[in-house]
Amino acid sequence: MKLLEVKQVSKRFGGLTANQDVSFDVGEAQIVGLIGPNGAGKTTMFNCVAGFFAPSEGSILLDGRDIAGLPPEACARAGVARTFQIARTFTSMTACENVMTAAMLREHHVGRARTAAMRWLAFANLERFADRPAASMTISEQRLLAVARSLALQPRILLMDEVMAGLNPSEVRLAVDVVLKIRDHGIACLIVEHVLEGIMPIADKIVVLDRGVKIAEGTPQEVSSDPVVITAYLGD
Ligand SMILES: Nc1ncnc2c1ncn2[C@@H]1O[C@H](COP(=O)(O)OP(=O)(O)OP(=O)(O)O)[C@@H](O)[C@H]1O
Ligand SMILES: [Mg+2]
Repeated sequence: MKLLEVKQVSKRFGGLTANQDVSFDVGEAQIVGLIGPNGAGKTTMFNCVAGFFAPSEGSILLDGRDIAGLPPEACARAGVARTFQIARTFTSMTACENVMTAAMLREHHVGRARTAAMRWLAFANLERFADRPAASMTISEQRLLAVARSLALQPRILLMDEVMAGLNPSEVRLAVDVVLKIRDHGIACLIVEHVLEGIMPIADKIVVLDRGVKIAEGTPQEVSSDPVVITAYLGD
């Protein structure tokens, strides 16, 4: 069975159709890239999968159970975690406290939640910030902090929305290494990314959206040589 199955999902905002009849799946510990031009509906799809929006139509199965329309905290408990396109950091809290906010969902004992948070900070190579205010971190460090915080929910699948945007090439390599480590940890990754050099070398599969519709799906090689994709997206 597939871990995540998105089946014929549509999401409308009034007269605007942000996702139309989109289907794809993500296997256990797979890395799947969700790409497409601005406004293609990528973040909307994340919001549907993570419970921030109820789809207008369709179903979203996690381990065969329909989670479509459940609130975000129920999706998180079921095993879906996500980061936001604009990193939402609690800037007045330390990096460790930021991760603890998520660790507390699984571990109510403060000391044990702190220990878990420290483990995820180390996982994301951010231990040095543990006791420093998150406001002292760069945007790229805050993106990794958001990843560490999401991991503290102990998800089955992590949805990452443009964690590599604006990073320099060495920061992209660090982020790619973290994604591979997450996969090796047994957690599936669904990644929205415009930084194709970050996602193409590591994805098992790429799904391409354009104006709300899935226009291609396949290996990175298949989609990057698909004329429909090139016209819609890679052409520029
Ligand atoms: N809450 C909302 N209310 C109304 N329209 C919305 C809402 N969220 C998204 N949209 C619209 O849905 C469409 C898809 O937006 P979405 O943010 O999903 O695109 P995206 O693929 O993530 O784009 P980008 O690459 O720029 O982040 C856009 O036309 C957007 O304006
Ligand atoms: Mg987006």
